Amino acid sequence: PESGLIDRFGRRIDYLRLSVTDRCDFRCVYCMAEKMTFLPREQVLSIEELYEVGRSFVELGVRRIRLTGGEPLVRRGLLALVQQLGRLPVELSLTTNGSQLAKLAGPLADAGVDRINISLDSLQADRFQRLTRTGDLNQVLRGIDAAREAGIRRIKLNSVILRGRNDDEVLALVEFARERGLDISFIEEMPLGQISEHDRAEQFCSSEQLRARIETRFALLPSTERTGGPSRYFRMADSDSRIGFISPHSRNFCGDCNRVRVTAEGRLLLCLGHEHSVDLRQVLRDPARVPADLQHHIVQAMALKPERHEFRLDDEPQILRFMNMTGG
Ligand code: GTP
Ligand code: 5AD
Ligand code: SF4
Repeated sequence: PESGLIDRFGRRIDYLRLSVTDRCDFRCVYCMAEKMTFLPREQVLSIEELYEVGRSFVELGVRRIRLTGGEPLVRRGLLALVQQLGRLPVELSLTTNGSQLAKLAGPLADAGVDRINISLDSLQADRFQRLTRTGDLNQVLRGIDAAREAGIRRIKLNSVILRGRNDDEVLALVEFARERGLDISFIEEMPLGQISEHDRAEQFCSSEQLRARIETRFALLPSTERTGGPSRYFRMADSDSRIGFISPHSRNFCGDCNRVRVTAEGRLLLCLGHEHSVDLRQVLRDPARVPADLQHHIVQAMALKPERHEFRLDDEPQILRFMNMTGG
């Protein structure tokens, strides 16, 4: 319908983040505990169910879909889903750790992926391995090259910066992005899930500090470009690259939130920082349902969207679900 999805604060929801799996081949220290149990497969939406969710949101006015995980590229059947979603009138994008991109970037581009965001927290192999627990830097670097060669229109790097672990690499990461014409966002860590071996308050590094460090080398010009997402972007005079800061703690961005997300098990989450959710899987699997039911539940859910997240660093995480359940 023409009206689209609008929440009770007047925000237009035209962007869906669809998590296709909670599994991942990495175990990033800020995302997962060392030992994780993943969902039994029957609790994860099938490729057909994921497509039906995507299509319903598009019919309700969503114009952008971002596939997330866990790691979306370890999901079996993903290319078929990308092909189906790619035929809908949406901008299709994907957020990945890059480990599978060397072989999948070409097929993904052919199937209709317009933009890819790739996590890259360090350019030092030993450190990269400590931060991801299982990741191989060179494999990811080959993946980044493959995405560039495949002609993906826009590639953005994501770096979660932690004090004492990779905050000294900010300039090196900016240089890496500049040399390749890629965008890069620096992210303040968000407290999702209990990770006992990792002290989030102690490792907090504010976007302001990072920006000051970058400005010792490059003048940053404010950019008006917005994705409707949390990133605030800057440009440099002599480069196409944009530098973004995602600052949940130091600068709230919820006022112009344009998005909702669906977890791998089919829970529609109205905000990353709240537990409010609507179980779409139950609707999808109800033998008595009529086609309009799914859209009806989605429309009704908009009334539950909270005004903003309430992330704090000072105590136990309020959100028990880990980041890999929702893809951020
Ligand atoms: P765009 O599609 O270009 O807006 O990308 P993005 O930067 O929003 O997405 P990406 O998947 O690259 O995520 C980068 C970071 O932003 C991750 O840490 C996400 O958790 C975070 N993020 C994305 N959307 C939201 C949101 O609505 N709220 C919060 N708090 N964080 C978000
Ligand atoms: N806080 C902020 N960003 C996170 N990511 C994963 N866990 C967290 C967290 N706790 C990032 C990843 C990836 C994106 C989807 O979210 O680095 O780039
Ligand atoms: Fe995997 Fe991404 Fe989580 Fe790292 S941040 S463990 S790559 S889902």
